[in-house]
Amino acid sequence: MKHSQATLSSTNLARLRIHDLTPTVDHFREEVIAGLQQPQKTLPSKFLYDKRGSELFDHICELPEYYPTRTELSVMRLHVDEMAAFIGEQSMIIEYGSGSSVKSRLLLNALQNPAAYVPVDISRDYLLKIAATLAEDYPNMEILPVCADYTAHLEVPEAHTPIDRRCVYFPGSTLGNYHPNEAAQLLQEIALVAGPGGGLLLGLDLKKDPQILHRAYNDQRGITAAFNLNLLTRINRELGANFNLDHFHHYAPYNPHYGRVEMHIASLGCQQIHLGEHEIPFQVGETIWTECSYKYTVDEFTALAASAGLIVEQVWTDECHLFSIQYLTVKA
Ligand code: AVI
Repeated sequence: MKHSQATLSSTNLARLRIHDLTPTVDHFREEVIAGLQQPQKTLPSKFLYDKRGSELFDHICELPEYYPTRTELSVMRLHVDEMAAFIGEQSMIIEYGSGSSVKSRLLLNALQNPAAYVPVDISRDYLLKIAATLAEDYPNMEILPVCADYTAHLEVPEAHTPIDRRCVYFPGSTLGNYHPNEAAQLLQEIALVAGPGGGLLLGLDLKKDPQILHRAYNDQRGITAAFNLNLLTRINRELGANFNLDHFHHYAPYNPHYGRVEMHIASLGCQQIHLGEHEIPFQVGETIWTECSYKYTVDEFTALAASAGLIVEQVWTDECHLFSIQYLTVKA
């Protein structure tokens, strides 16, 4: 996620019409306490992305070991005109997780008369910056940012311009960060948002040599480890907990049985953590599971999408079949 330096002019602010559904700190506390009280301590991966977490994630995307971002970009650069042809004219693009504006711009530039762009992101400041720069650069397109968690039901703002098709753009393989049953639910929700005949342009990581995966989530410079452990710093800062980061380690193996990378924070010793009135005990080696990153074959994903009422129309990949971009339509 690139943080641009754009400032909001009053004209841009007026054009932006932000819908703000930012989750509160109480909501964060509730989810953290509930997650740390489970037998397998688990925290939702969406909480990895505070300001520092987003910066570290940007850094991950540029690491030599982390192939997904640059591979997705290369596939996009080669085939974006075909993608735009599938989406068609006068479309509304609804981007989930409005991450890298590089990818969004590639897509928006290739589209014929895009009518509206709806970036949806949980980080309000980041969303506003992205939306403000885009509003400057695309004066003929409505920009309707929504600050929300897109896994909850999403109300798409009405555009003033007539729309021929809604297309959800969900790049970066973030869908892989959900368990398959949750991914199926999210796909059903996307199908509702796009509506019959609507589209989904999806970036999805593919199954491959486990060693490539292991390196991608255990980089030599320790940036992924810092990204993971930053969640403890966030909990200390926002919820007043007392995690000592020297007593925890990043642990991210690939589990071939489930086809997923499992990212954990492992306790190096037996210890007790305070969080408000709660005491959280840790055994030596016990982990907090912070993220899963599922990898699919094209056939596995086609079946998952079909269960949610979405048809895979086209798949583009790089020559090593590391990463795919897929265009799907909602069954009419
Ligand atoms: C955002 N998401 C697709 C990344 C992934 O690869 O699962 C998050 C990430 N976690 C560690 N490195 C990158």
